[in-house]
Amino acid sequence: MRISLHLNGVPHAGDAEPRTSLADFIRERGLTGTKVGCEQGACGACTVQVDGEPVRACLMLAVQADGTSVRTVEGLAAGGEELHPLQRTFHEEHALQCGFCTAGILMTLDAFLRDTPDPTGEQIREALSGNLCRCTGYEGMVRAVAKSRRPNV
Ligand code: FES
Ligand code: FES
Repeated sequence: MRISLHLNGVPHAGDAEPRTSLADFIRERGLTGTKVGCEQGACGACTVQVDGEPVRACLMLAVQADGTSVRTVEGLAAGGEELHPLQRTFHEEHALQCGFCTAGILMTLDAFLRDTPDPTGEQIREALSGNLCRCTGYEGMVRAVAKSRRPNV
């Protein structure tokens, strides 16, 4: 099936088998920052934003994304910026180790912070509760999120 969508702001048309997941569709186009872990909607590694909302791309079919705007970790930093503030503070606060979960977590948190621009630690932990990380213990992530909102503190 022929589908058209915006990928990180760039119009894109492509063919997708009816059963191709959005995650596979994205990765087949070279955007391999989006990772696929459980393929069952449980781990959050594949999270991207579809029309601004976090979505588990392993559970969404590519054909369901027809006509939408999809943002992946490759499109997270604003034009001209090398890193998004969250990417910078994740680095500074050692909030990742193997990095397999990181793209999904960043896309989840970016959407969360749009709705909750000054979150408490508890709200940050709640926002992270659907994304599994088996390396870090999450404390660095909580610090990184807080620091991204108050870079001078
Ligand atoms: S790979 Fe999609 S939720 Fe785990
Ligand atoms: S950094 Fe390894 S799974 Fe999260």
